[in-house]
Amino acid sequence: MSKFLSSLYSALEPYTPGEQPKDKAYIKLNTNESPFPPSPKVVEAISTEVINDLNLYPDPEVGLLRDALAENFGVKRDNIFVGNGSDDVIAFSVMAFSGRGGRLACPDITYGFYPVYAELFGVNLTEVPLRDDFSVKVEDYKDLGCPVIIANPNAPTGLMLSVEEVEALINQNPNRLVIMDEAYMDFGKASAVELTKKYDNLMVIGTFSKSRSLAGLRVGFAVANAEIIRDLETMRFSFNPYNINSLTMRAATAAIKDKAYYDSCIDKIIKNREQTKTELIKLGFKVLDSKSNFIFASHPDYSAKSLYEELKNRGILVRYFSKERIKDFVRITVGSNEQMQSVVNEIEDILKG
Ligand SMILES: Cc1ncc(COP(=O)(O)O)c(C=O)c1O
Repeated sequence: MSKFLSSLYSALEPYTPGEQPKDKAYIKLNTNESPFPPSPKVVEAISTEVINDLNLYPDPEVGLLRDALAENFGVKRDNIFVGNGSDDVIAFSVMAFSGRGGRLACPDITYGFYPVYAELFGVNLTEVPLRDDFSVKVEDYKDLGCPVIIANPNAPTGLMLSVEEVEALINQNPNRLVIMDEAYMDFGKASAVELTKKYDNLMVIGTFSKSRSLAGLRVGFAVANAEIIRDLETMRFSFNPYNINSLTMRAATAAIKDKAYYDSCIDKIIKNREQTKTELIKLGFKVLDSKSNFIFASHPDYSAKSLYEELKNRGILVRYFSKERIKDFVRITVGSNEQMQSVVNEIEDILKG
């Protein structure tokens, strides 16, 4: 730490992204990326013409992409916010709706960036314990008196609330903002986006990083009532109005329009997820009922940390979290059929000892 860092940030513990070792070629199942390439339409969209225009600033309204997202969700442009990955959208949301000295609530086991943003922006975070079976119970969020952010499906458990449960959460208090982070919802197919048309205290966040095979592009979005979006735009125009570059805008617009391509990728992932769950259960694992593109699994006779290390030695990366309640689990991203066969075969071999 330099002597110049503000004392406000001296205790900040930054988020740890999934590792990307370069010593050999790994089967990478540790950051919930898609095993499939982006739609061919995305490649077409980044044409020479767009590249030649890079001397100009991008459209700060991000009109093309917001309109395409609005059409996709049956809302208007002013119901859509876009960010540089959904992390960017979450950051703007924490700034806008909790704010310095404000409050935010989330589950105790969830996406690791929520506490980091809370710390960065001086927000007091209430961590609501998941139940013993790792489920989120809506009634546990009843009288908190502050905005709530919930990943649905949750990470790293993969467990999901139904649309009815989300609606109950929204109805608990019309004066409290509910932020549903639906980064993995295309694999769960129970989005609360429709409810944003009915309720003015719901914001739904999505991303192009998982189901749309564009983690490297960095695009996320929010769908909400126009006033909420205006608040987020106030934050964005006060910080970085050019958070979406021209190439990204074109590429993401092409992606959102190629629903057929992505639907077929999603179907394959869901099929591989269910197959792999069954195979892991046969090998003696406890496997949570994930509705996302990853599997959270624990073996009664083999430590999760050793399993993670042994798989890495064998060229397969999965994610291990040392946090107390989940230290017996590994999180395995659902990849292609071949990748899942490899991971299951290696695990079987490791368990044989
Ligand atoms: C629950 C959840 N939300 C948001 C994100 C951020 O995704 P991105 O910034 O790539 O859109 C992740 C990434 O892993 C996640 O797990």
